Amino acid sequence: MSDVMRAVEITEPGGPEVLQISEQFVPVPGSGEVLIKVAYAGVNRPDALQRAGLYRPPPSASPLPGLECAGVIVAVGPNVAGWKEGDEVCALLPGGGYAEYVLTPSAHCLPVPKGMALREAACLPETFFTVWSNVFDRGGLKAGETFLVHGGSSGIGTTAIQLANAFGARVFATAGSEEKCEVCRQLGAEQAINYREADFVEVLKAEGGANLILDMVGGSYLPRNIKALAMEGRLVQIAFLQGPKVELNFAQIMLRRLTVTGSTLRPQSDLAKARIAEELLEKVWPLLEGGRVAPVMDSEFSLEDAAKAHALMEGGSHIGKIVLKV
Ligand SMILES: NC(=O)c1ccc[n+]([C@@H]2O[C@H](COP(=O)([O-])OP(=O)(O)OC[C@H]3O[C@@H](n4cnc5c(N)ncnc54)[C@H](OP(=O)(O)O)[C@@H]3O)[C@@H](O)[C@H]2O)c1
Repeated sequence: MSDVMRAVEITEPGGPEVLQISEQFVPVPGSGEVLIKVAYAGVNRPDALQRAGLYRPPPSASPLPGLECAGVIVAVGPNVAGWKEGDEVCALLPGGGYAEYVLTPSAHCLPVPKGMALREAACLPETFFTVWSNVFDRGGLKAGETFLVHGGSSGIGTTAIQLANAFGARVFATAGSEEKCEVCRQLGAEQAINYREADFVEVLKAEGGANLILDMVGGSYLPRNIKALAMEGRLVQIAFLQGPKVELNFAQIMLRRLTVTGSTLRPQSDLAKARIAEELLEKVWPLLEGGRVAPVMDSEFSLEDAAKAHALMEGGSHIGKIVLKV
């Protein structure tokens, strides 16, 4: 194996064009880490934020973009249990997925679900870790509850709809076109609301309010989310595509005993991520292997075309996940 590899680097903060192929040293696994030969890397919104200089990687992480991949383990560091060279995995990464080789803690690897291609498996970790930890752990979604997810056709949204549906919740989703709404319904949303034509607050109020809302939009959605929640409802914020600052009447939070929370995945400890991986393996992998839940694929680009992949994602016409073939 050569000690250099092709990887996409962010040459400077900016638009998609700052993503350039470069030559980098192949990293060497340290204690508890594995080296993965990447077959496919998933593309996520946080990669675009990092590229634009708006989301700095944690100090110990690779500065290269890429938060998830699927491939084959080719080297194992000291103190790794349960994985060996030759194992096919999909993995949550601290960074560096847009490359031929990448390191990650072994506890952040999961087996490729039986029957699933590496291309699809590469799209699982970032959205499934995020949705599991925010909707089920932090948000405490229960069977029979009413769940609203915004951005229903996004990588996160398509995952949240399927998992909430599989665990017995009533699912509502918002999206920006009829085509996107139709996909949300096919994935299990009881109602998909085209936010350009209808007010999600009115729809949810007519249903008794949402017990849980997963939101990535923020901005003008913040006060409207508060209105759309049922008594003792929970709002979990995972991004602020419309901005984080807004005027809000906090009395409603007190009077209706609401909970407003949120999280980001990347800065959490290795142990916290390992715990999410264990829960996914036990509770979600059987659904993937049974075909009950599957990643929604939009398109594939070569590693050299990472800039085109980002331009597509930021254009907003995609439905589901975009991958890079390495
Ligand atoms: N907190 C975490 O740990 C974490 C982890 C992963 C991702 N995220 C965040 O979750 C969000 C979804 O990620 P993803 O990778 O699934 O992204 P994505 O596929 O690009 O989805 C973004 C979605 O947001 C909708 N949207 C609504 N308002 C928007 C606005 N003002 N600007 C842009 N899009 C808007 C878009 O569709 P419409 O046409 O329906 O508007 C689109 O479906 C991103 O904001 C990402 O940063 C957070």
